[in-house]
Amino acid sequence: MLKIKIILASVREGRFGDKPAAWILEHAKKTPGVEVELLDLKEFPMPFFNDPVSPSMKKVPYTHPEVVRWTAKIAEADAFIVVTPEYNHGYPASLKNAMDWVYQEWNNKPVAFVAYGSVGGARSVEQLRQVVVELQMVPIRNTVGITFDYMMKAFQDANVNPVELLKPLDDKAKGTIEQLLWWGNALQTARGA
Ligand SMILES: Cc1cc2nc3c(=O)[nH]c(=O)nc-3n(C[C@H](O)[C@H](O)[C@H](O)COP(=O)(O)O)c2cc1C
Repeated sequence: MLKIKIILASVREGRFGDKPAAWILEHAKKTPGVEVELLDLKEFPMPFFNDPVSPSMKKVPYTHPEVVRWTAKIAEADAFIVVTPEYNHGYPASLKNAMDWVYQEWNNKPVAFVAYGSVGGARSVEQLRQVVVELQMVPIRNTVGITFDYMMKAFQDANVNPVELLKPLDDKAKGTIEQLLWWGNALQTARGA
């Protein structure tokens, strides 16, 4: 059983991020051999990173309760799907902070991106690929990029069904999850060896 954690990066009131997170969660749930959980950063109110010791150098675990809870969730995972907006041509600070608090628990695990924005969140994803390599993660090639036309539909109808809204991108979701599973299984075996 491969444990996939879906990380919802936006913590903004009225965020669009709920929609792609719900959609990709449904796809992951339907995938055989996978146990999936949504991690909403809104539910992990960590302080901005302020510890004297950097995560890769720490000898004793951090004690802030939210950080402890967050780190335990990352430790459980075999693979990640990050659902992220693009803020000022980059990733949101909420996501970077959540990444910065953890180190070893990210190592040697693959990550896929579901991004959104005027160019499908592509600039955010490219920056995140640089960040996750330093966390010793494997960013996979396949990505879902959701453009403004989908976002406008959601803003016009708050009750829009995410599964219906993003149906035209279903093949992208399947291809991304398939590639994530390949890496997830390969790295799970390698970590165990
Ligand atoms: C601080 C901020 C900066 C933004 N910068 C960009 C940007 O650089 N590129 C883009 O495509 N959209 C940008 N947007 C628009 C977002 O794509 C849009 O607001 C989206 O809904 C944000 O995701 P969220 O609702 O899940 O937080 C920005 C929005 C905010 C709030």
